[in-house]
Amino acid sequence: MTSMPPDCTPGPGSVDAVAMRTAMGRFATGVAVVTTTDGDVPHGMTVNSLTSVSLSPPLVLVCLTTGARTTEAVVTAGRFAVNVLSTRQEQLALRFARRGEDHFSGLPVKTGSHAVPVIPDALVHLECSVHHTLTAGDHDVVLGEVLKVCSRDGAPLGFLGGRFSDVVDRGHEPVPWFF
Ligand SMILES: Cc1cc2nc3c(=O)[nH]c(=O)nc-3n(C[C@H](O)[C@H](O)[C@H](O)COP(=O)(O)O)c2cc1C
Repeated sequence: MTSMPPDCTPGPGSVDAVAMRTAMGRFATGVAVVTTTDGDVPHGMTVNSLTSVSLSPPLVLVCLTTGARTTEAVVTAGRFAVNVLSTRQEQLALRFARRGEDHFSGLPVKTGSHAVPVIPDALVHLECSVHHTLTAGDHDVVLGEVLKVCSRDGAPLGFLGGRFSDVVDRGHEPVPWFF
């Protein structure tokens, strides 16, 4: 079986936003919402840049658009939650991706143990304190130390090629943890 030849950019300096989005869109991810509060005002944004960084100490990272409301609130508050969404929560993923809206309007939200809003029925809540941040290009990379983990079984919402997707378990034996 032959595969299609790849589309390649012609040379240095020719990697534009479309090429990056198309290429990275082939790297399937889950979908999460980063939530925090600025005083009494809750903020949240949909992300797929979530990465597990370290087990000891427990660290995760998210890449947040520099200057976005949620980014500024996360940095100011020094804490945030990561809410991993299920396939039932596609509408929430869309809601928290709309720019300039009150993302929490009419939404039942709980407060976690560390004074951050958490989204009910999410598969995972990670409550984090900001460990450190660095600016990289047009995003702020925010490393969070995980203070509390809650997780439940369910079907995770996927994101592939710019579309929401299902994540299919192939039913094989679990891969051994060697990292
Ligand atoms: C599936 C999906 C994944 C996204 N991932 C990110 C991300 O990792 N980082 C980011 O800054 N924006 C991401 N966005 C865009 C933000 O959700 C969007 O800009 C949001 O409106 C920002 O909220 P705010 O400006 O109200 O804080 C993503 C959007 C979608 C639909």
